[in-house]
Amino acid sequence: MTDRFTPAAPTRIALVCLGNICRSPMAHVVLAGQIERAGLAERVEVTSSGTGDWHIGQPMDSRAAATLTAAGYDPTAHRARHFDRGWFDRDLILVMDENNRRDVLDLGAPADRVMLFRDFDPEGTGEVPDPYYGGEDGFQRVLAMVTRTASALTQRLAGGLDRRLDQGS
Ligand code: 4NP
Repeated sequence: MTDRFTPAAPTRIALVCLGNICRSPMAHVVLAGQIERAGLAERVEVTSSGTGDWHIGQPMDSRAAATLTAAGYDPTAHRARHFDRGWFDRDLILVMDENNRRDVLDLGAPADRVMLFRDFDPEGTGEVPDPYYGGEDGFQRVLAMVTRTASALTQRLAGGLDRRLDQGS
């Protein structure tokens, strides 16, 4: 089989939101599942974390977990982690909203590797809105956004994502 993947080392992707109990863990589970199904699990590492430290060690928000479970995913392995300087070595730091972007850049994250997760959304870039203080429909919207974005990103990864991706390309 032809190996189309150029980097010898795995591409390491960090997904970042505020609490690491809703958006980035949902994106993490969905993207990891798609990467697994695409046969890329040994080539791409996905992790997630939050810029806030309130929920470290906690499982996913129950509404986020229920939304994933209803869609056929297993959310149970997640435990919230905190984004700090130790995450700066990732190939891509994909943030859910502009507050997350400001927070990681304020910490000193390498700007050329920080993008909005939805920069890969084929239906248009923007933020993944925080569903934490809203209703059930917010979690469904997040699931739809992260599913189509993860799918497009997985296709890019399968085609050999340049490790120093140009912003928005
Ligand atoms: P997330 O949502 O950033 O998508 O995980 C939030 C979770 C917790 C809080 C805010 C947003 N919080 O304020 O505790």
